[in-house]
Amino acid sequence: MHLILMGLPGAGKGTQAEKINEKYHIPHISTGDMFRLAIKEGTPLGKKAKQYLDEGALVPDEVTNGIVEERLSKTDCEKGFLLDGFPRTIPQAEALRDITTKLNKKLDYVIHVDVPEEKLLERLTGRRVCPVCGATYHVVYNPPEQEGICDKDGAELIQREDDTIETVQKRLAVNMEQTKPLLDYYEKQGILVTVNGDQDINKVFEDIQAEMNK
Ligand code: AP5
Ligand code: ZN
Repeated sequence: MHLILMGLPGAGKGTQAEKINEKYHIPHISTGDMFRLAIKEGTPLGKKAKQYLDEGALVPDEVTNGIVEERLSKTDCEKGFLLDGFPRTIPQAEALRDITTKLNKKLDYVIHVDVPEEKLLERLTGRRVCPVCGATYHVVYNPPEQEGICDKDGAELIQREDDTIETVQKRLAVNMEQTKPLLDYYEKQGILVTVNGDQDINKVFEDIQAEMNK
């Protein structure tokens, strides 16, 4: 299974990716997670990416395309993959087409998690993440059993640095401009499915599965 999860910042891509991953056991490849890890580890990639993430801007395509190609060439992607947050621009989609052609893979579905723009700010500013296992929570919509503590490993939850109101607004503006042409690109290929992301987390996952079983 070769899947792409698309949606504006805060639409629930990471949340649904966790569920898809539990069920289908395909590697979850999030470019955002890869950049955050590289920044944390202070690698050359992290040094290149940091200023863009801090500003809520997109990392240049050539940098992003390079890390995706390297990742998709790894052996664990032979059984499939779930891309989260990539592609985000038409040049990235074209690069992905070239990479998949080279690796002799075919995309099955592009899942667009659709959420009205006005809901996203609240979702992002209320998000909390686990620095140990990467699990995502929300203070209102998906709280952990014990406030501020990860259910899975007891680690103290943190807020992502780019989840401040200012940076969220910038991320939303940047991504809104890029998303529509990408949706059209995959619609034309007949592999785009859109699910309503403005409902309970489990219901969104049910709808994703229903679309994939059609
Ligand atoms: P990235 O990490 O991809 O961030 P993003 O696209 O802004 O998406 P998020 O991770 O913020 O949101 P999400 O859709 O995963 O939502 P989540 O499930 O957490 O990218 C970060 C940065 O990296 C970019 O700004 C850019 O600089 C760079 N980058 C990454 N990819 C790039 C690329 N391809 N090219 C260039 N640069 C790139 O959910 C959000 C919150 O809502 C959580 O609290 C969750 O619990 C809650 N929630 C989820 N679902 C529901 C629901 N159904 N109902 C209620 N609450 C819900
Ligand atoms: Zn955890």
